[in-house]
Amino acid sequence: MDTFTDQFLALPENRAFLKANMMGPNAMRVAEELGADLGINETMRILDLGCGCGLSTLLLTKKYQAQVLAADLWISPSENYERFRLLAIDDKAIPVFVDATKGLPFAQRYFDLLFSVDAYHYFGDTSDMLPGLVPFVKHGGCIAVAIPGLKYEFGKDVPAAMQPFWNSEMERTLHSPGWWEALWRQTAGIALITVREMACCKLAWQEWLTGDHPIVAGDIKMMQEEDGKYFNLIQLVAKVI
Ligand SMILES: C[S@@+](CC[C@H](N)C(=O)[O-])C[C@H]1O[C@@H](n2cnc3c(N)ncnc32)[C@H](O)[C@@H]1O
Repeated sequence: MDTFTDQFLALPENRAFLKANMMGPNAMRVAEELGADLGINETMRILDLGCGCGLSTLLLTKKYQAQVLAADLWISPSENYERFRLLAIDDKAIPVFVDATKGLPFAQRYFDLLFSVDAYHYFGDTSDMLPGLVPFVKHGGCIAVAIPGLKYEFGKDVPAAMQPFWNSEMERTLHSPGWWEALWRQTAGIALITVREMACCKLAWQEWLTGDHPIVAGDIKMMQEEDGKYFNLIQLVAKVI
């Protein structure tokens, strides 16, 4: 059966929309896999943290009719509001400015689900980030994150094929499933449910490499060299207890 993402991409105007708004591996496809086993429904209030241009927000509002606080640092709420109006999801999707490193401007236990696609690795690599997010999620709710990562920790032995592309930001943000699991296991008040490599990695990357974003040209060269050997997408899900 076709996924929501496949049905969306069947229309040429939607493919053009996606090409114009992707900021990394196709966030709609990644969000669909991340959301698949979370029991999302229309009664839920979700924080989409680091939503970028709102592709994951579009999935959560259209596929599940959930209410979504679409929070981002680089993309302004005004820009996202305009996009949400054009997509006719502005009754469900509320754009907000958030810098997760400065704390969240929400009530405690406000969200049924904290959801984040291709963003958490930018701000979540410290031992105090997850404990700081947990109080905003209801007891019994989940924190679900999908991030680009590595099949194994490179340490100082960055593979030769990757060295031309490697930089300090990649060194800080890209890690193995085991590295993230060890970090999340330090946090009290959660039960870790899932740490795994995501099945949509190859397709989500292929779709990103068709996008209009200026960094795509460099990423095409990098992914030719990478050739399926080093990168993955990592899914982390924890229940707040
Ligand atoms: C690669 S983009 C991905 C955007 C979107 N999730 C997607 O997949 O298309 C990374 C996103 O992380 C967000 N981000 C980075 N640091 C952040 C922070 N401290 N607080 C909130 N969002 C942050 C950026 O604003 C950016 O939109």
